[in-house]
Amino acid sequence: MDERLSTTQVPAVIGVADKAPAIRLENVAKTYDLGEVQVHALRGVSLEIHAGEFVAVMGASGSGKSTLMNILGCLDKPTKGRYFLDGGDVSGLTKKELARVRSHKIGFVFQQFNLLARTTALENVELPTIYAGIPVAERARRAQEALERVGLADRADHFPSQLSGGQQQRVAIARALVNNPAILLADEPTGNLDSRTSVEIMEIFQKLNDEHGLTVVIVTHEPDIAQYAKRALEFRDGRLRKDIPIQNRSIAKDVLPTLPALDEDDVEMVAEREAEPGAAEALLHNTRTPG
Ligand SMILES: Nc1ncnc2c1ncn2[C@@H]1O[C@H](COP(=O)(O)OP(=O)(O)OP(=O)(O)O)[C@@H](O)[C@H]1O
Ligand SMILES: [Mg+2]
Repeated sequence: MDERLSTTQVPAVIGVADKAPAIRLENVAKTYDLGEVQVHALRGVSLEIHAGEFVAVMGASGSGKSTLMNILGCLDKPTKGRYFLDGGDVSGLTKKELARVRSHKIGFVFQQFNLLARTTALENVELPTIYAGIPVAERARRAQEALERVGLADRADHFPSQLSGGQQQRVAIARALVNNPAILLADEPTGNLDSRTSVEIMEIFQKLNDEHGLTVVIVTHEPDIAQYAKRALEFRDGRLRKDIPIQNRSIAKDVLPTLPALDEDDVEMVAEREAEPGAAEALLHNTRTPG
């Protein structure tokens, strides 16, 4: 088979790509060097995700999903290959430059919520606006607006320990949205939630994707949860093995009325969790704006 393009075909091929994909990976590899051993977490991954897509990343434990998400979220860099975010090559950026890109373009949601325990919902959501250098007067307004988008406006003054797991995750989603990112990344966002609450979280993601055109990429182990996305990627041993459109997509707002409501007694108040006590909290309380 002759795979060469004739000169007349080339312009047509270029013409198709009128808008850069939100995410493009070219042969990305990630190796963790542990001295004696090298762990090949990603072994040459190429893929494109366009603005407005909703992608579920699946695969067995250790297949490289979180490694991929950390690279997509500019929390880490590939060992080899290139990463284009919104058309710009970010693979060569320094840590500081990556942090700046991340703060403007990426919202990240974690399985463990990662909220600061002694800090209200509103202040938790405000935190990224400090990193982004948003003027003090505007921070609380933006944070309140983000809480409204996840249906938690009336919980702004609550501490994480006073919120259910689902509510804590909604605060974390609001925090991810507060700087108006182009891409929302979530690594097992429903991993710590019961099944009804998980569908409520998927409802928020579907709404953000449908109504605001936000590009959403989530990691999940659960095929039921992947059904809420539009496209599924499956990883095995650091390689992309499957890339398929979701058939018969589930629509959370139609599924929710069919699920039994939670009893008040079932709503478990999740114990206080604190991710990184020092740095972020200190930053919040001595509201310095980075230059
Ligand atoms: N910081 C690190 N240092 C060394 N090895 C790592 C590091 N992070 C991940 N790994 C290894 O890289 C491989 C991929 O890990 P990764 O966390 O990406 O998997 P995963 O698909 O997210 O798994 P899970 O479903 O359990 O979360 C694993 O073998 C893991 O042990
Ligand atoms: Mg993981």
